[in-house]
Amino acid sequence: MHSLAKLALFGLAAVRQACAISPGFPYGSEKVRGVNLGGWLVLEPWITPSLFDNTGNDAIVDEWTFGEYQNYDTALGVLQNHWNTWITESDFAAIAAAGLNHVRVPIGYWAFEVGPGEPYIQGQLPYLQNAVTWAGQNGLKVIVDLHGAPGSQNGYDNSGHRIPYPEWQSNQTNVQRTDAIIKQLEGMFESQTNVVSIIAPLNEPAGYDGDQILSVVRQYWYDSYGNIRYPYGTSQQSNTIELIHDAFQPLSYWTGFMTPPNYQGVAMDTHIYQVFSDADVAMTWPQHISAACAEQSALSGFDLWLIVGEWSTSPTDCATYLNGRGVGSRYDGTYSGSTYVGSCTGLTGSASTFSAAYKTFLRQFWEAQVISYEAAADGWVMWAWKTESADEWSYSAGLQNGWIPQNPTDLEYPSICG
Ligand SMILES: *[C@@H]1O[C@H](CO)[C@@H](O)[C@H](O)[C@H]1NC(C)=O
Repeated sequence: MHSLAKLALFGLAAVRQACAISPGFPYGSEKVRGVNLGGWLVLEPWITPSLFDNTGNDAIVDEWTFGEYQNYDTALGVLQNHWNTWITESDFAAIAAAGLNHVRVPIGYWAFEVGPGEPYIQGQLPYLQNAVTWAGQNGLKVIVDLHGAPGSQNGYDNSGHRIPYPEWQSNQTNVQRTDAIIKQLEGMFESQTNVVSIIAPLNEPAGYDGDQILSVVRQYWYDSYGNIRYPYGTSQQSNTIELIHDAFQPLSYWTGFMTPPNYQGVAMDTHIYQVFSDADVAMTWPQHISAACAEQSALSGFDLWLIVGEWSTSPTDCATYLNGRGVGSRYDGTYSGSTYVGSCTGLTGSASTFSAAYKTFLRQFWEAQVISYEAAADGWVMWAWKTESADEWSYSAGLQNGWIPQNPTDLEYPSICG
């Protein structure tokens, strides 16, 4: 080898050495396979409709109103029972036994602090600690995901507060409060990155609302980089990976953003659903599968580690309250302005009502997505591990009813994407 080339190589190796970090999981060389523990530490009406129906109050549509419109002790009692029972240590054992290596745990800002006039009820944080302990005992890695920020970053019920337009980005106090929480989270877990390998500083900011929120989000990803990757106040890096979300922009929007060598330990999260538009729910089953296969070209070649951090086997938005408590479904035309595609009967609810053909489709759709997200990205985290009454969304129901294999590499349709 030419000596100059050798020197250049050596120089590069030395730089790499100096920057080397040791993530808790070999991202990029092993595939992330995981599930979201949705509807646990952040309530979602469609995941646990009974918690909302039992209030007898139609105005309770999210965790904010759950606290606002109920007696504190009543609401606290229901929440504590839910935190104690919805996910337990045995779920972590079952997730590990299903051949998965990650769990993503959504948590809201209100677990850390509640401002004046904010009706959230606290008490979730010890359960996050439990989750980390149980994950560690079962050899699972944890993605801690801040799912709701002060003001709400998207206005969805799953941000804690269902509002017409997000307010997080329009008030610097909201952003500063969020920064402080990310600092606190990193402080809680920076010595356990062999378990908490990733912090995702904000779920699904509504980038489609325009440049103002996008510019706040971009700055927030930079600030979170400091809070997550440099928590010691020195030039020493942590081993925690920062998982940023694409804010619903095409991946091309983010090309070159926070990339090596200037940035280390950053990964991109993208969420893929085929149920949240009229066109999506109008697709036939073969079209859903083709769309899943087509994701391979959309995802491939991105310049950061790329994780499909949410996706689903559901081909419809039929699950009760999926679009919000009291809101209907596009598929059966009960969503305002939508066009009837078909009846929801047999497409949501208990797997015992699903036809053999539907279960075969669910298996094929699951496999097509797993194949794509492993071929073109660094892995996947399915939404969700458990649901009360929407088995088409549930990883555990899929395992129990055979449309998800006990070992995620055990494919029945390995050539489904051609
Ligand atoms: C900004 O948000 C904080 C809470 O995070 C609130 O106390 C304050 O009143 C808000 N300011 C404005 C101008 O809305």
